[in-house]
Amino acid sequence: MNRSLFPPSLAAAAIAACTLLSSPAVGAADAKPSPAQVARGQYLVTTSGCHDCHTPMKMGPQGPEPDMSRMLSGHPETLVMPPAPALPAGPWLVTSSATNTAWAGPWGVSFTANLTPDADTGLGQWSFANFRDTMRTGRHMGRGREVLPPMPIPAYKHFNDRDLAAIHAYLRSIPPVKNRVPDPLPPAGVAPVAQK
Ligand code: HEC
Repeated sequence: MNRSLFPPSLAAAAIAACTLLSSPAVGAADAKPSPAQVARGQYLVTTSGCHDCHTPMKMGPQGPEPDMSRMLSGHPETLVMPPAPALPAGPWLVTSSATNTAWAGPWGVSFTANLTPDADTGLGQWSFANFRDTMRTGRHMGRGREVLPPMPIPAYKHFNDRDLAAIHAYLRSIPPVKNRVPDPLPPAGVAPVAQK
């Protein structure tokens, strides 16, 4: 580097400024997010497949497509599922509903969560810390029951705080949908787990 053009004191100031700009302001993450942060969150939600499971699928001209009128609202409360079919022994392991929101496997039956900001049935009451800790630890709010498959915690726990804050900011910005998702069901023959 040519020091006469870029003296060390300036370099240090530039690095400090960049660090300030790029470091996640976790403590301030619940403050009003910037439009850029919300846009980044929308990008991450779209590319990370959240709609695949949390937005109910409906049948479209090209096959199943996410029903965006119920965007990210989870398993529809009106869709009461019959018992999951028993699979024969063999390599088939998992069954899912046509909406892609109810999943049966060795863990029992799980229903995808309502990620909209509805205060009663969605994530409306969740702070950024609640959201971050859930995604990192795979436990409801970081301390409750285990978040069941197929929620891809093993992949998502690697999101950095900055990206998790952007996802949370975006989820807070979308239309709230009142939809109470049922609790998971234990595998056949196992007593229900203690709920949230
Ligand atoms: C392959 C399907 C799948 C994908 C993809 C997926 N989820 Fe999930 N998610 C689930 C299921 C199923 C549950 C409910 C698990 C349970 O009840 O234990 C869940 C639960 C959650 C919860 C926990 C809610 C609670 O009350 O503890 C959060 C938060 C969440 N998902 C956020 C996301 C976000 C954000 C994305 C995208 C980055 C995403 N999920 C992508 C299937 C998925």
